Amino acid sequence: MEEKNKLTMEKLVTHCKTTGIVYPGSDIYDGLANTWDYGPVGVELKNNIKKVWWKRFIQESENSYGVDAAIMMNPKVWEASGHVASFTDPKMDCKSCKARMRADNLIEAYSKGETDVDAMTNEEMEAYINEHKVKCPICGNFNWTPIRQFHLMFQTSRDITGDSNDVIYLRPETAQGEFVNFFNVQRTARAKVPFGIGQIGKAFRNEITPGNFTFRTIEFEQMEHQWFCKNEEQGFKYYEEYKKEAMDFLLDLGFNKEHLNYKDHEKLAFYAKAACDIIFKYPFGWNELNGIHYRTDYDLAQHQEYSGKNLFYIDPMTNEKYIPHDVEYSIGADRLTLAVLCEFYDEETLEGGDTRIVYHFHPAIAPYKVAVLPLQKNLGEKAREIYKKLSKRFMCTYDESGSIGKRYRRQDQIGTPYSITIDFETLENETFTVRDRDTMEQVRMTVDELIKYVEEKIMF
Ligand code: GAP
Repeated sequence: MEEKNKLTMEKLVTHCKTTGIVYPGSDIYDGLANTWDYGPVGVELKNNIKKVWWKRFIQESENSYGVDAAIMMNPKVWEASGHVASFTDPKMDCKSCKARMRADNLIEAYSKGETDVDAMTNEEMEAYINEHKVKCPICGNFNWTPIRQFHLMFQTSRDITGDSNDVIYLRPETAQGEFVNFFNVQRTARAKVPFGIGQIGKAFRNEITPGNFTFRTIEFEQMEHQWFCKNEEQGFKYYEEYKKEAMDFLLDLGFNKEHLNYKDHEKLAFYAKAACDIIFKYPFGWNELNGIHYRTDYDLAQHQEYSGKNLFYIDPMTNEKYIPHDVEYSIGADRLTLAVLCEFYDEETLEGGDTRIVYHFHPAIAPYKVAVLPLQKNLGEKAREIYKKLSKRFMCTYDESGSIGKRYRRQDQIGTPYSITIDFETLENETFTVRDRDTMEQVRMTVDELIKYVEEKIMF
């Protein structure tokens, strides 16, 4: 397996489990495939990632508005969107061990991401797998059924009448919650096209996956933003702008641009005029991080047809009447958290030959901003007093067990940017040492100085 920053997926999974970042879902029952639970450290990291995304794409965008739509929607939504008819994956079953696999994932893994599966038909994928004798990653046999299409939407039922009309779906994307609220938002916010609607929320897909930790799970969160504009000319213009904004967001988080790239979709949905992914170099190879799609006026037009409601927008200046076009920017919160966990991991050899694992997270997304460490347990009272003051401003952690060196290492491996040590001088003059995670340099500060310093550093 390819290594990046000396990181393999096996190492990452172990590190995340032992440090409280991510645990296997339902762990004491031996897990449930493709589900993961965030621990005390991971939930902070993911929440911070969601916060900086929201700040960038909703708060700082004058014409963007947030929503939090219901996960369960009228089933007609999914007929209108096309999901009922065609949200499927090409699956193959291993006739030897009964493992169910996605044909495209098998090819991606076999070719280490070098083959463009997006551009392949089912027949081409089947031919590739047969020609290269791609084996089952579980049992090692080459004994596949032909490809069949497998539906990805989870269904449930309110079971009122027991007939099929009661079927409802767990949403497979958050986007439709933005589309169906287009007019509610436009009217209540008095928004003028162009404007945006975004949301962060859970989505569910009955994915068959070859693992890779949280990369592809059956329950995940999406951060999606729809930008509604007038026509095709604007659609192409904003598509290019969102490509850049999506990339800038990642670069501002500190991603190395050598680890990111654009990948245009070769096979476009019939209604889409342009689509691309930003791909990232994971330890298992290049793969999708997020998508940007120019979807034309398809979504609102479909909802107009299926709902029977008039979804035309009337320009208040010109009285022009039209169905707005949409540029979508969609990124998984879990997918981005995974990329962050891969990108900012490092193993360093220090002067004197000591080694440390360290996460160089941007302070804005670091799970804890400050660790409060009393030099000795009998300094606990003062240390707790300082912890209380600091934790009113930002997330802090407190640790008094083990040597100070061990405690610094513990904070390094969860990416805490500042560790403060309360010592006997603190009792005299209210100052403490502040150790910087990255440089490991130490300076003395008071609580007020530290608050000001940290608040500047965590601005994003
Ligand atoms: N509304 C468009 C849409 O849902 P998508 O490419 O299917 O497009 C968008 O998903 C993003 O959601 C992906 O780029 C990825 O970051 C994330 N994502 C999709 N499926 C996922 C899964 N099964 N597990 C984790 N993240 C997923």
